[in-house]
Order: sequence, then structure tokens, then C-alpha cells
Amino acid sequence: MTYEFITVNPQAQKFVTLIQLNRPGELNALNRQLMTELSSALRELDADEQVRVIVLTGNEKAFAAGADIKEMADATAIDMVNRDQFATWDLIRKTKKPIIAAVSGFVLGGGCELMMNCDLIVASETARIGQPEIKIGVMPGAGGTQRLTRSVGKALAMEMVLTGRFITAEEALRAGLVNRVVPVEFYLKEALMWAQEIAQLSPVAVKLAKEAVLQAFNTSLDEGLLLERKNFYLCFASEDQKEGMKAFVEKRKPEFTGK
Ligand code: HXC
Repeated sequence: MTYEFITVNPQAQKFVTLIQLNRPGELNALNRQLMTELSSALRELDADEQVRVIVLTGNEKAFAAGADIKEMADATAIDMVNRDQFATWDLIRKTKKPIIAAVSGFVLGGGCELMMNCDLIVASETARIGQPEIKIGVMPGAGGTQRLTRSVGKALAMEMVLTGRFITAEEALRAGLVNRVVPVEFYLKEALMWAQEIAQLSPVAVKLAKEAVLQAFNTSLDEGLLLERKNFYLCFASEDQKEGMKAFVEKRKPEFTGK
């Protein structure tokens, strides 16, 4: 499939696909078409055995400056209900393979929410992260009040959501919102290196582990622990588990096939 507002490099590295948001003139503002393209690309990649890890990036100036304000400006509430454009975001959240965000520049509004849908986040030192919707008379609508609060806690989330203040990459790192901060020339390289590292592991175990960690946001501790235990047992149905443990005993590097 060809896309207008994203580019997909299916084999950026072996088993690693790079998706780049590509509306540079609008600071990668997330219009409906871009989000539909992104969710459809992710659905395809999730089903492709040659893909184990996905890296999602924008450009140095902007990961994404939010949902497309011009596209929404004249909408009525009923237009918004009928379009239900944020429903596509659920498809992104449901991607089973790990997604690493490589962000730089503006990471705002829906851009911050998109980043928070990813599993690991590498930020450039130049990243400016915020939920500025309050300044245009609305509020976050795709996880900014929920995921942000769970990540950084009430104090900082409330400040960001109620004032629209942007935080720096360093502040985001200290608050636990991103995993790593690196100079701007390295943020994408770092994310790709990380992707390569995870792509060497068992894709079965990686998927089951991702599912279990995300479950921590959704259930009681008892239910979460139960899913974790079942996923752990399920690993033993894979050839990768046999290979991983055998390789350990034989003191060699395992070769995981995803079977
Ligand atoms: C549409 C946008 C845009 C956006 C930038 N542009 N952000 N277009 N929607 N969210 C466009 C500008 O109109 C302009 O196009 C071009 O990109 C460059 O932007 P400038 O403003 O000229 O750049 P600069 O002066 O450097 O300021 C950068 C900025 C500012 C601080 C990021 O653009 C800004 O405040 N953007 C909006 C940020 C925001 O409020 N995001 C939340 C959106 S609501 P032209 O054609 O004029 O040159 C949201 C809701 C999410 O995300 C709900 C769930 C998904």
C-alpha cells in the first residue's frame, strides 16, 4: 500500500521497520488521513512475520505538533461523534509488537499522546513535550489525562494539562515519561539500535511480555499477576523457549525463530 503522510521502510534493519510521519510543512500535525494510514500500516506490520520491532519517528523539528487543528476547527460536536476520529488510536494501542518512539522537537497534544502509545521512547535533547490543548479551548482527547497522569503522577500531569506548559526532554526523563535522552544527531540511531537489540530476542516472548506489562494499567494486581503467569507458561509452547534455555546451557547465543 502507498501512503501520502507516512513513509514505511519495511526492512530498515533486519526484522525492524521504520515508520516516519511525513507532513513536515505542518509539523506533522495528525490529520485523519495520517492517522488512518498509520493504523493501517501498523495492522499490516503486526501480521508480518518478517517484522519484530517497529520504530516510529517524525523529523528533527517535530515528532508531531498535535491533532490537525485546522481540520477540526469548524467541526460540531456531532461531526466529532460521527467522525469518531480518535477511535483509530485504539488500533495503534492494540499493536502487539513493540513500538519504539524516536522523538525530537515538538511533541505536543496528540503527538504526546501518540508517543505515550509507544512502548519505549528515545527523545532528542531538543524535544519539547506538552499537552497544550487547554490554550485552544479544549483538552486532551486521546490519553493525555490518563496515560500522562499514570506516567508522571498527578502534580506534573495537572500542571501540563491545565497550563499547557511544555517540558524539556530532561524533565521528561526525570519524570519517567521517556526512557532515554540523547543529542539530536543520535536519537533515531539510538532507537534503531535498541530495536535491533530487541529484534534478536524471541518475538513470541517479547509480545507476551508487552501484553503483560500493559495489563498492569488495566486490571487489579491479582488479575495482572494471573495474566503474567499464564503468559509465562505459554512461552513454554514455543520453540524459542527451548532454544533460549538450551543455548544458555550450551553456552552459545540463541537463534530465535518466532515459532
Ligand atoms: C494544524 C499545525 C499544527 C496543528 C502546527 N501547524 N501545528 N497545523 N494543526 N496542530 C502548522 C502551522 O499552522 C503552520 O502552518 C506550520 O504548521 C508551522 O507552524 P508555526 O506555528 O508557524 O511554527 P512555530 O511558530 O515554530 O510554532 C510551533 C508550535 C505551534 C509552537 C508547535 O505551531 C503550535 O502551537 N501548534 C499547535 C500545538 C497544539 O496546540 N497542539 C494540540 C492540538 S489539539 P502554516 O500553513 O500556517 O505555515 C490536539 C488534540 C488531541 O492535539 C486530541 C486527541 C488526538
